[in-house]
Amino acid sequence: MELIRMRVAARRALTPHIVEFTLVPLHEGALPAFTPGAHVTVEAPSGAMRRYSLVNDGTAPSKYVIAVKRESAGRGGSASMHDEAVEGHELNVKAPENDFPMADAPRYLLIAGGIGVTPIYAMASHLEREGKDFNIIYLSRSAGEAAYLEDLTTAFGDRVLAHHDEGDFDRIYDFWDHFAEPQKLSVYCCGPKPLMDEIRAISGHWPEGRVNFEDFKPVEVVRADDEPFEVELRKSGATLTVPANRSILEAMRDAGLNTVSSCESGTCGTCKTRLLEGEADHRDMVLMDEEKANNLMICVSRACPGGRLVLDL
Ligand code: FES
Repeated sequence: MELIRMRVAARRALTPHIVEFTLVPLHEGALPAFTPGAHVTVEAPSGAMRRYSLVNDGTAPSKYVIAVKRESAGRGGSASMHDEAVEGHELNVKAPENDFPMADAPRYLLIAGGIGVTPIYAMASHLEREGKDFNIIYLSRSAGEAAYLEDLTTAFGDRVLAHHDEGDFDRIYDFWDHFAEPQKLSVYCCGPKPLMDEIRAISGHWPEGRVNFEDFKPVEVVRADDEPFEVELRKSGATLTVPANRSILEAMRDAGLNTVSSCESGTCGTCKTRLLEGEADHRDMVLMDEEKANNLMICVSRACPGGRLVLDL
């Protein structure tokens, strides 16, 4: 895993809850390039690893620009970015990866919901440079909460359709007209789960690969009905209680016990740990069935209700 040491060169408040960060490398040398839709994984000041889409042009980048929404119900990563990643702060950043790449198409429909605008903005800027035909639908609660709205309308004019529902269920945008008939265009959608679920549901009759999603949370790290449980770390001799709203990895971090991690969403395999005793509730997308009796991804998986785990840590 390539980690780049970077510095916060600038911060810009985009909305009351969203801050843009411009990150520049500490050392000389070219930054890895990236394509639209790419993200970086940033080690927040709290130690949490978080994925953020890149907003700027990645052809020959001298900086990485990301926007971070403070998640008040989150697990502390975004809050630590907002509160502690001040100008001049240094961070580790994993080189860009792209799970949301664009394919060549005659026309594009880009759909953004809330902070999901970040990869959509990068894609629109790329398509504009390439002279391609595209439209954007940008949904948010209100104009004041819509990051980059002014930049988008200035750059792309009436190709941007902004819709604000003001939290009113009756004003939710109706996508049916866009999806009733499959069209010769590619759709790229990034936003909250209900928006992506809706687009998935109404585009089921479209040809495979025509409608694409960026899902930053393929795995729910904690769920509303999760319970606290105990975990014994046999090598270090420590026993921790993992709170209902924390992962094992976060509980270890809170206790000052560091271990390796990367995606912190159960998808990369970095935090694989030997499970010595106990029955696990596996939530990752990495382990093979035959590995599950003796291994655990501590960034997302937990003890089964009422259970206790012993780990080889
Ligand atoms: S850190 Fe990637 S699977 Fe746990």
